[in-house]
Amino acid sequence: MTDCLLRIEELSVAFHTPEGTARAVDRVSFSLNRGETLGVVGESGCGKSVTSLSILGLIPSPPGTIESGCIRFEDRNLLELDPEALRRMRGRDISMIFQEPMTSLNPVIAVGRQVAEPLMVHQGLSRSAALTQAGEWLDRVKIPAARRRLEDYPHQLSGGMRQRVMIAMAMVCRPKLLIADEPTTALDVSIQAQILSLMMDLKNEMGMSLLLITHNLGVVAQTASRVVVMYAGQVVEEASAPDLFDRPFHPYTQGLLRSMPRLGARRSGGVARLKEIPGIVPAITETIAGCRFAPRCPHAFEHCRAQAPDLFSVSDGQRARCWLRHFPERRRTDA
Ligand SMILES: Nc1ncnc2c1ncn2[C@@H]1O[C@H](COP(=O)(O)OP(=O)(O)O)[C@@H](O)[C@H]1O
Ligand code: SF4
Ligand SMILES: [Mg+2]
Repeated sequence: MTDCLLRIEELSVAFHTPEGTARAVDRVSFSLNRGETLGVVGESGCGKSVTSLSILGLIPSPPGTIESGCIRFEDRNLLELDPEALRRMRGRDISMIFQEPMTSLNPVIAVGRQVAEPLMVHQGLSRSAALTQAGEWLDRVKIPAARRRLEDYPHQLSGGMRQRVMIAMAMVCRPKLLIADEPTTALDVSIQAQILSLMMDLKNEMGMSLLLITHNLGVVAQTASRVVVMYAGQVVEEASAPDLFDRPFHPYTQGLLRSMPRLGARRSGGVARLKEIPGIVPAITETIAGCRFAPRCPHAFEHCRAQAPDLFSVSDGQRARCWLRHFPERRRTDA
């Protein structure tokens, strides 16, 4: 049995809108080993959520289409499964936690029943057996007086408590893979670290793999063993977490690190922006000839604007999509 649980190969996703075609994800590849935590980072709009939604067949279509690629989970290509087979995997083999718990929680169903539901659907438990386990899970995710809260509705809980319910719902069937998309972004600073450490404790206890998507490198520093950096729909750097923090290669990664908010710092205005890298992520409807980061890159030279770089190997286990790999003398020391 291979160590690899999930392998995304050359995934491309486009959205066809009246304004044009947005190539939201462009030939993205990465893999995740069993038990591993992989962080996917990048500013808002870089294609992180679209990548993760593709795994479970959750891209809204129209306007979205998966144009090409392969998403191998164990021995199956998820892109070839029919919707029913994917639905059976959701919550059982692969679970997702989103930024906003209210998008996943049903406002008119008591939280106990919502946590119990996957057990009834996937494991055929009776309602009372499932509710008993749901109570245990609410306790496990440290909801005070858990069993008394089974009858509560989501609006009766705080944001942090709702996120704990989501974690319980996601983990109750012990999936092999948990995908957490900005799991702490909507929470108060004081709660973020608690939720993150709860998630990591449960993940380690159950030996599951975690794909952690965030714009916040502080969150990645606390959790991930490997990191994929995305920019404008592409992977621009991939490295072990220690390498990424010690010797980031790509100018975008370097900018992200310089602007790294302390863990828990809230985004201003709801948009993750880099003060240290002027400019914004280009609209992916634009056709860009060379490197997509060139308009914002302090090291850009003529070759960068003419030809798009590949993801080059820069050291053992580290790759970067940057011409500086082959033109190191072009790296400016004053930037
Ligand atoms: N429902 C949609 N309709 C049209 N375009 C979309 C839709 N969802 C995402 N996109 C496009 O995909 C890009 C990447 O989005 P997303 O993956 O959500 O970014 P991230 O999660 O990194 O913030 C967006 O900038 C947008 O162009
Ligand atoms: S390829 Fe050129 S423009 Fe792109 S990140 Fe590297 S140095 Fe900057
Ligand atoms: Mg997102």
